[in-house]
Amino acid sequence: MEDELKRLRAAALEALAAVNEADQLESFRVEYLGRKGLLSTVMRRLGQVAKEDRPRLGQLANTIKREVEELFQQKKKQLSSTGVAEAVPEDLSLPGRSLPFGKLHPVTQVMEEILGVFEGMGFAVAEGPDVELEHYNFEALNIPKHHPARDMHDTFYVTDSILLRTHTSPMQARIMEKLEPPLRYIAPGKVYRCDSDITHTPMFHQVEGFMVDYKVSFADLKGVLTSFTRRMFKDDLALRFRPSFFPFTEPSAEVDIACVICGGSGCRVCKHTGWLEILGAGLIDPEVLKKVGYDPEIYSGFAFGLGVERVAMLKYGIDDIRLFYENDLRFLAQF
Ligand code: DAH
Repeated sequence: MEDELKRLRAAALEALAAVNEADQLESFRVEYLGRKGLLSTVMRRLGQVAKEDRPRLGQLANTIKREVEELFQQKKKQLSSTGVAEAVPEDLSLPGRSLPFGKLHPVTQVMEEILGVFEGMGFAVAEGPDVELEHYNFEALNIPKHHPARDMHDTFYVTDSILLRTHTSPMQARIMEKLEPPLRYIAPGKVYRCDSDITHTPMFHQVEGFMVDYKVSFADLKGVLTSFTRRMFKDDLALRFRPSFFPFTEPSAEVDIACVICGGSGCRVCKHTGWLEILGAGLIDPEVLKKVGYDPEIYSGFAFGLGVERVAMLKYGIDDIRLFYENDLRFLAQF
C-alpha cells in the first residue's frame, strides 16, 4: 500500500504539471481529488491493512492528499490570473471603466436652493438640535401644556420634558433669547411627527424664517415671501394670504401660491381650487417676544415656516412624499 500511495503521488504531480486549461484542471480534480477519485479510493482501503501499519499509512495518505490539494489550488490561481491577463484589451488607449457620479438628494438640493434665496435677502442661517426641550418646542412658543394646538403635532416624546422637535419654530426662541434685534434668520432642519401617508413621513424637513426689528410689519412679510416664492417657482407667480391661527403668531396666515401645475384654472393637484398651500406665517405674537425678554412695544417681527418636501413636490410635480425616502435610484437620479 505504501508503494501504491507513492506511485499515486508521482502520477498526480505529473498530471497536474501537464494541466494548462481550466477544464483539464477540473478533470484532474475529479480523477484524483474527487469523492470517488483515486486518492479517496485508496484511503478507503486503509481499514483493511494490518492494525499496526494503519497509523503510519494513514498519516502518509493524508500528507500526500494535502500536498496534492495545495498544488491543485496553486495551479488554479495561476490559471485564473493568466485568464485575467488574457482579458486585457489589446488597445490600451481604450477608456477605463468609470464609476457613476453620485448626486445630492432632491430634498438637499431644494433645501440649498431655499437657503440661497433667503441668504440673498440678507438672512443668516442657524441650526438647532433635533432632540429638543419641550420648553422650546411648545412653552416658549405660547403653546402651554394641555393647549389644544399640541394635538396638531403628534409628538414623539423622549421623556416628559424632552422630545423630537415637531417643527423648526423652537429656533425662534433659541436665537432671540441669545441675541438682540435686529435679527434676520432662517433655520433649516429635520422635524418629526408620528404620521405616515402619501403626504406625511415621520421625519421631514422645514425651514423656519423670522425677522425682528423696529416696526417690522405684515407688509415686510408679504414682500419677503413674494420675492421668495417667485424666485423658487416663477416670476409672475400669484400669492394668497388666508387668515389662520398659530399660537406663536398674531395675526397668522397660511400662504397659497397659484397652482404651478394648472396655473390657477383648477386640476387634480390643487383639488380644483387653483391654489396650493405652501407655508404658515404671521407676526410674532407679543407673548413670544415677552418670553425672551423683548419689549413688544419697541420691537415687532414676522415669522414663517415651510415644508421642504412640500416645496420639492410642487416644484417637480411629485405626488407621493414617500418616494423621497425609498432610495430608489431610478427616482433619485432624475434630479
Ligand atoms: N411651525 C408651524 C408648523 O410646523 C409652521 C409655522 C407657522 C411656522 C407659522 C411659523 C409661523 O413661523 O409663523 O406647523
